[in-house]
Amino acid sequence: MRVELANHPLIAHKLTYLRDKRTDSPTFRRLAEELVTLLAYEATREVRVEPFEIETPVAPTTGIKLSSPKPLVVPILRAGLGMLEGMVRLLPSAEVGFLGMQRNEETLEAITYANRLPDDLSGRQCYVLDPMLATGGTLAMAIRYLAERGADDITAVTLLSAPEGIKAVEEQLADLTIPITLVTGAIDERLNENGYIVPGLGDAGDRLYG
Ligand code: PRP
Repeated sequence: MRVELANHPLIAHKLTYLRDKRTDSPTFRRLAEELVTLLAYEATREVRVEPFEIETPVAPTTGIKLSSPKPLVVPILRAGLGMLEGMVRLLPSAEVGFLGMQRNEETLEAITYANRLPDDLSGRQCYVLDPMLATGGTLAMAIRYLAERGADDITAVTLLSAPEGIKAVEEQLADLTIPITLVTGAIDERLNENGYIVPGLGDAGDRLYG
């Protein structure tokens, strides 16, 4: 897995306010959306495009447009929903599918409770959105799910990641041969004994939706 740590002062600035426990839900939602738009710029660097002939008022020229099939954006419910608007603002023609996954807070294992995705993802480029990569169980399961349906290029976008989780995703997906990329706003210190990212920002789902 290729890991891209987005390194930009505006991202660090917004992340600082997102982490602050005094930040209320409306501000948290707005910051998460703004952060995703900045991360999406980095995440879509390899989005597939094709030549497109146009005429300007002055002369014909060749530009580019997004290739078909259009990319599929997959927020992982529930916290990933807080990243959807920011992503589709940059990729308005993308299709959106949903995966509902929840981590059992005792075993820390992820389960899938909802799936609204096209059955056949052959040849599709997919963007998975989830604010937190903690133990990595959720993201690894989501990426495998998409790869098994034929997705052939998967980029995960997270606001924060734990080093242990990144390593676990790499290990759990070592058998996949498709390109997998992680774009993240920060790689924090570690996980605590409850599987929370330290220093992190707490429970993203709760902070977004209460
Ligand atoms: C959080 C977060 C990730 C997952 C990360 O979701 O949004 O999906 O935990 O943990 P992992 O890397 O250890 O698997 P949660 O299960 O709390 O569900 P929610 O988004 O509905 O709050």
